[in-house]
Amino acid sequence: MEMTKRPRRLRGKDTLRRMVRETRMDKSSLIYPMFVVEGKDIREEIPSMEGQYRYSIDRMDYELERLQKAGVDKVMLFGIPAVKDEVGSGAYAENGIVQRALREARAQFPDLYLITDVCMCEYTSHGHCGVLCDHYVDNDKTLELLARTALSHVEAGADMVAPSDMMDGRVAAIRQILDKNGYVETPIMSYAVKYASSFYGPFRDAAGSAPAFGDRKSYQMDYHNRREGIKEALLDVEEGADIIMVKPAMSYLDVVREVADRISLPVAAYSVSGEYAMVKAAAKMGWIDEEKIICEMAASAYRAGTDIYITYFAKELAGFMDEGRIG
Ligand code: PBG
Repeated sequence: MEMTKRPRRLRGKDTLRRMVRETRMDKSSLIYPMFVVEGKDIREEIPSMEGQYRYSIDRMDYELERLQKAGVDKVMLFGIPAVKDEVGSGAYAENGIVQRALREARAQFPDLYLITDVCMCEYTSHGHCGVLCDHYVDNDKTLELLARTALSHVEAGADMVAPSDMMDGRVAAIRQILDKNGYVETPIMSYAVKYASSFYGPFRDAAGSAPAFGDRKSYQMDYHNRREGIKEALLDVEEGADIIMVKPAMSYLDVVREVADRISLPVAAYSVSGEYAMVKAAAKMGWIDEEKIICEMAASAYRAGTDIYITYFAKELAGFMDEGRIG
């Protein structure tokens, strides 16, 4: 049989397959999301996210050390305050949970790169990502509070802020307040293309941030939409974002690809809590191979064009990369 083109020729041996590999990954692109909670001596497992914990500030070092040892030097902090109110005061309090965690982490781990999630939903009594006017989240009033929150994080030592609220104009508002206060060099990673997704379910258990009424569809995006994602990404580029994030990752890789093709900023993909929980649950049942699935999910996100991968599996992935099982 005459056949000059045989794709299998390049698949014969592992050494060869590795040589012609198109997608390569690196530990330096991993970010680990982590929950800090008020209180003392707390390291409590999140029931819907086996293997993930809420740490009080005095116990954070346990996890931060393990991360550094694994070669993951970037964390994204989420705060769980003791009290919540209508206007999410804890989000921008000078001694709020994230602000104190930042000061502590900054002092103890000077080499860690500290990113913070900037949002109101963990801090508001109603669980929405902004302040309410009747039952509607008031965009422009929320901007002011988000900007204050971002500034308070940076003042407490954050290297980068990541607004996740999906209000219009928040990147510009945050850029403006940071610049005005002399933080012109602090980058903003915008959750620019964030869908209203049921994949956030376990996170909301972890942070106690499920909305008390309604849903987030009046600010997070409708998952039927692709072009709108591009619109959001381009708007945030205009407003001064430094990195554009697409979230969730796994079911949204078409959007990751298109955003990566259309903008010239680094792209991040966030593999969210529901993705993590599904892998954990199925692996526990013995229905999938956890390690192989983690690697395949990560590789597909990078293949789709992400430069940065935010994942609860960051430590595991770093280990797999070290062992040459992926990357
Ligand atoms: C805050 C925020 C959420 C997540 C990241 N930042 C929850 C939400 O929007 O409801 C989800 C992360 C995850 O599911 O892992 N707005």
